[in-house]
Amino acid sequence: MIYTTNVVASSMASVKLDGKSRALVRQVPQSFTDALAKFFGSGPQDIELAQSQHHNYVKALEDAGVEVTVMEADNAHPDCVFVEDQAVVIDGHVLLPVPGHETRRGEQPPIAEFLINQLKGHKLCRMELPARMDGGDIIRIRDKFYVGHSTRTNSEGIEELKQLLDHLGHELSIINIPDHALHLTSVSSTPSDNLILASEGHLPKDAFEPLPEGVKVLWAPEEEVYGCNTIGFPSGDVLIPIGHPVVKSLLEGEGLNVIELDVSELRNADGSLTCCSIFY
Ligand code: GLY
Repeated sequence: MIYTTNVVASSMASVKLDGKSRALVRQVPQSFTDALAKFFGSGPQDIELAQSQHHNYVKALEDAGVEVTVMEADNAHPDCVFVEDQAVVIDGHVLLPVPGHETRRGEQPPIAEFLINQLKGHKLCRMELPARMDGGDIIRIRDKFYVGHSTRTNSEGIEELKQLLDHLGHELSIINIPDHALHLTSVSSTPSDNLILASEGHLPKDAFEPLPEGVKVLWAPEEEVYGCNTIGFPSGDVLIPIGHPVVKSLLEGEGLNVIELDVSELRNADGSLTCCSIFY
């Protein structure tokens, strides 16, 4: 991993922000029907529908109090709407992984440039091949991180992430992602600061052990796996994809305010809610 002291010369100190204050999203490109699709869908067909669902997604983030920046689509990269994979912001560091699928690597430069300009004073950590990693394989709950070992994220990528987290004093556990799932975030998420939501049939019941104190795992039935990708906010609001009644009732049972979104045409390109944002 290449470490750069500061992303740009700046006298500004790095400000610790609530992790959900600001988000970068990217428009759905006209080439979206060529997006990679192997798990949840067989490929999107309706670009206008995808664009309108994405518009509603942005509005839902804004309604939750997030300051959202919408980056222009890049028609040369059909998957560009799924920005989560391209960069991860961790405690004053911008991690730029080498995206696991070669066709997606060209999505990264404008995202990196945006974050470098926004996060003056953050340190830049740039992975290099043979390390590979998609941001969609990382989840964080408090100071504990989980990384999926998947078709997109390899051992070398995990080792580089571990070095960064060791440096920051954060714990990392590795979870093997089964062949029938894309990313760790395809099958789990953190709807609140003390909950992990995960899908039966994809991960073993001890996948998240050892858990941070006070954190518990809610298990949804396998047929609601897509509903396990949620975006929780400190207010107790949580966005979930529409049509997952068990997930909804599990989260409401924890006192959370569930807001359902229809993102069916993003799902057709294997995209979930978290895939479309980088929180920074
Ligand atoms: N379509 C999203 C991905 O495969 O990365």
